[in-house]
Amino acid sequence: MSDAAPIEHPNGLTGGDFTAADEPLRLFAAWFTDAKQSEPVNPEAMTLATVDAQGLPNARMVLLKGFDERGFVFYTNSESIKGHELAAEPKAALTFYWKSLQRQVRVRGQVEAVSPTEADAYFASRSRMAQIGAWASKQSAALESRHAFEKAIARFTAKFAIGTVPRPPYWVGYRVAPHEIEFWQERPFRLHDRVAFTRASPNAPWTKTRLYP
Ligand SMILES: Cc1cc2nc3c(=O)[nH]c(=O)nc-3n(C[C@H](O)[C@H](O)[C@H](O)COP(=O)(O)O)c2cc1C
Repeated sequence: MSDAAPIEHPNGLTGGDFTAADEPLRLFAAWFTDAKQSEPVNPEAMTLATVDAQGLPNARMVLLKGFDERGFVFYTNSESIKGHELAAEPKAALTFYWKSLQRQVRVRGQVEAVSPTEADAYFASRSRMAQIGAWASKQSAALESRHAFEKAIARFTAKFAIGTVPRPPYWVGYRVAPHEIEFWQERPFRLHDRVAFTRASPNAPWTKTRLYP
């Protein structure tokens, strides 16, 4: 299938030649499993790029909280800067870089909100303090002092002293439905391997292309 010589993955745990893969989500799953074993901190961290109303790109880290054939899910505040950008232009790019494996994965696609039921379930799985923090933080708004934030945390801690903490209406999940996923593996002398998978629509078959590094 592949025209490449067998590849050694000195830092990788997945054996075999990844460029022979014919389906990107299974390959992502294998690489993510490797990353969870080898990255010392936050293997699920990814850069999320959006564009603002002027078309100026904006990027920040978020955490991957789930993925399947529908796409890659993260959670955030819909009233944050990224939330407003995604409301106006529901498209995004994600980049993972796992230093311990010298691997990069890039994802691009349309963005949709996850269902309220899915967001409720994930919110319920978070620690109580993180749930209260979601109520207390007006993410990306100007904050006059740390003290003001701590006061808000104390207020919501008292408000939700008993029972479960409900999900704030603005605390939502987004799913990036990929039409492009690229895998990059560092190799000696900058002679890296790159394979891109593209598809025209969410139900269309993937097309694989090997790229020059
Ligand atoms: C490793 C890491 C993980 C992060 N994960 C999230 C996340 O999952 N959701 C989130 O809203 N912000 C997360 N943040 C904070 C964002 O990078 C960002 O500061 C915040 O969401 C505000 O972004 P915005 O002003 O562009 O909306 C994370 C930051 C780092 C460094």
